[in-house]
Amino acid sequence: LQALAERARPGFRIGAAVALGPLASDAEYAREFVGNFGALTPENAMKPQFLSPQRGVYTFEEADAILATAESKGMTVHGHTIAFTEAMPRWMQELPTGSAKDRRASADALLDYLTTVVTHFRGRLASLDVVNEPFDLDQGTSLQENVWYRTFGPGYPAIVSRAVHDADPDVRQFINENGADVPGERQDALLDLARDTNARGGHIDGVGLQSHVYDLETDAISAEDLADTLDLFDEAGLHVRISENDVTDDQGTDDQAEQYATVLATCLDSPTCVSYTTWGVDDRYDWWVDDDGSAQQGHDFLFDEGHPTPAYKAMTRALRSS
Ligand code: G3I
Repeated sequence: LQALAERARPGFRIGAAVALGPLASDAEYAREFVGNFGALTPENAMKPQFLSPQRGVYTFEEADAILATAESKGMTVHGHTIAFTEAMPRWMQELPTGSAKDRRASADALLDYLTTVVTHFRGRLASLDVVNEPFDLDQGTSLQENVWYRTFGPGYPAIVSRAVHDADPDVRQFINENGADVPGERQDALLDLARDTNARGGHIDGVGLQSHVYDLETDAISAEDLADTLDLFDEAGLHVRISENDVTDDQGTDDQAEQYATVLATCLDSPTCVSYTTWGVDDRYDWWVDDDGSAQQGHDFLFDEGHPTPAYKAMTRALRSS
């Protein structure tokens, strides 16, 4: 895929989310991954809960191993993520914010975490989700009132962005959100947040549109809607990453394949869309966990037990005709 992408648009990267486990232990997975992708996003290894399980304790080993693999294969790395409500260790979630004194102490702890992490990875990340899933769940348009919000107030994304810039001025900064892939209030809120953050001295380069399609009947992303979306961010001078595209399907149907190809081809058509990443590689390592805790046995990704899926084939066709 990466070679075809490079021919279609020089410099364009196709990426995938990866976990170290299968990359290190499964040769077939490693071949699928290394042969097809020019970029990677660590699926979990750079989340705060994994990087700092206890206050002042840092566990960089897994992220460093993923980075070493990427570097040895000439892949770029997208870091994921600094401020993310869902993926904080308990010590961070529970920092007290009741009084001004509490908030000053929490600000020190949060910025110390941020600076330690960004300094550790400095120069090795092409881009980074500085704020991830800022809005209330289920299509909300207000900021989640997480510990960053409680400590710094509604302008916290600019504080995060400026501190990241101080620690690594070259990393491209993104705000990454789900459900903002098509025109609507949530997308407008994301655009406003990116602009507001930069108006407050932030360094946001663009937005990540996750593009998870959990139900083809209700959530499919049309080429028209995505093209309008890309135009909107382009007019605002912001880049877009398609950051976590996957299409859930029980069967691996042509509709699923077409949806993957549509998102990729529409991104490729727009210079503001700087990269495309899919949130998995092979169905045997599906990240989705059903409500009862069991792993999903769906047909969601570009490979199924080592074989290219119809989605993979549709994407290669889309790249060849771009
Ligand atoms: O590693 C621990 C293990 O030590 C522990 O015993 C086990 C018990 O639950 O949990 C393991 O951690 C799990 C982790 O995946 C690694 O496998 C977490 O519970 C589980 O919640 C975590 O799920 C991840 C989820 O984000 C939550 O952070 C998924 O793998 C990951 O694909 C998913 O990715 C998110 C993006 O970060 C943001 N956008 C949406 C996307 C999909 O939900």
